[in-house]
Amino acid sequence: MSLCHPKSTNERHEDILKNSNKNILKGTRWLRSQISRAKPIVIYGLLWIDLIEQQNTMPNTLDISSVLDILRPVQDPELQKSLVELNMIRNVKIDGSNVSFTLVLTTPACPLREFIVEDCQKAVKQLPGVEKVSVEVTAETPQQKGVVDRQGIEGVKNIVAISSGKGGVGKSTVAVNVAVALAQTGAKVGLLDADIYGPNDPTMLGLGEAKVMVKEGKNGESLEPAFNYGVKLVSMAFLIDKDQPVIWRGPMLNGIIRQFLYQVNWGDLDYLIVDMPPGTGDAQLTMAQAVPMAGVVIVTTPQTVALLDSRKGLKMFQQLGVPVLGIVENMSYFVPPDMPDKQYDIFGSGGGEKTAAELGVPLLGCIPLEIPLREGGDTGVPIVAGQPGSASARELRAIAGRIAGKVSVAALA
Ligand SMILES: Nc1ncnc2c1ncn2[C@@H]1O[C@H](COP(=O)(O)OP(=O)(O)OP(=O)(O)O)[C@@H](O)[C@H]1O
Ligand SMILES: [Mg+2]
Repeated sequence: MSLCHPKSTNERHEDILKNSNKNILKGTRWLRSQISRAKPIVIYGLLWIDLIEQQNTMPNTLDISSVLDILRPVQDPELQKSLVELNMIRNVKIDGSNVSFTLVLTTPACPLREFIVEDCQKAVKQLPGVEKVSVEVTAETPQQKGVVDRQGIEGVKNIVAISSGKGGVGKSTVAVNVAVALAQTGAKVGLLDADIYGPNDPTMLGLGEAKVMVKEGKNGESLEPAFNYGVKLVSMAFLIDKDQPVIWRGPMLNGIIRQFLYQVNWGDLDYLIVDMPPGTGDAQLTMAQAVPMAGVVIVTTPQTVALLDSRKGLKMFQQLGVPVLGIVENMSYFVPPDMPDKQYDIFGSGGGEKTAAELGVPLLGCIPLEIPLREGGDTGVPIVAGQPGSASARELRAIAGRIAGKVSVAALA
């Protein structure tokens, strides 16, 4: 997948066919011009030409290999490789004039799945005798690459941290909505609230009153995550009295984060999203050193001070060898609910884009400042579920797709 629509694939198909036909058509025209001169050979000549035209453009028989051949130039736009070579086209079946196959994407959150399906259908419809092309879309999320000295979590394919240098920029909002958006596509998703001192994810995910249980498992006691909107959640908020401040020192914090990673019954997950506390402290260090991470997403707001802190956060992860998947600019602009055509750049503009360019990491998206997004967080109805058509929900879904895309590319690289 990529952010640009891969239009060129079909055009390439058409070009190849057009070029191979060009010479034959020239010959056809010349022969037709001879018709009046040599009538007796005209009929044979034209029949022969038509036959040659067909033989030169398309295979004569419709079979599995001709379907795979015509699909070979269609690429996964993000991986820039042939779908056929990536083994993403499977179960090709031919039933009369109907062709069907399964397209196995590298993430269920692929934002360009419709375009890829359309490209495949257009390509196969060029085969003679094909009337209907049915594509079943599934996904197999690849597992992130292992890191020698870090222990992965059994069943968890990709761990993605959401972090920032500064507090209150919207990490939890992004983490919760990205997790729900990924789950909405059919991915198996977990959310680890690593903010031990100020855990907000249960409230934002509508699990403010949830209770979690400890169960005896094959590896001893393990915590059973809470579940809502398709997302499994573990948070310190489930284990402490709401009004009790948490006063822990570094080593204790390290211990609880490790327990949240390894002593939770996460089951099989395509993505474990980790909502980090603000800053560049013990939690970040523990996460980066304990588990192999597919990458980190840095959330920032456009004002200069936030951007300066984001750079620190970003550098820290880079130094610890954690790939930075990109930057999300939150609260990019304010759209007044009563004047949807107006847009105010409250915190300045273009900061995230500039920082991303300076640091050589992608900008994954810009989320507007919207009242319903804050309300969704407070009431426990994430905006991607409560108001999926709003500007911020659309952008959060796109960001989730881009994160999933980057994770797949890194895993398959
Ligand atoms: N784009 C937005 N539009 C409106 N409100 C937002 C937006 N992003 C975040 N908020 C609100 O801002 C507040 C802070 O957001 P959030 O808790 O996600 O930030 P955070 O970075 O996780 O904070 P902390 O550093 O304390 O963990 C929340 O009330 C949230 O609902
Ligand atoms: Mg937070």
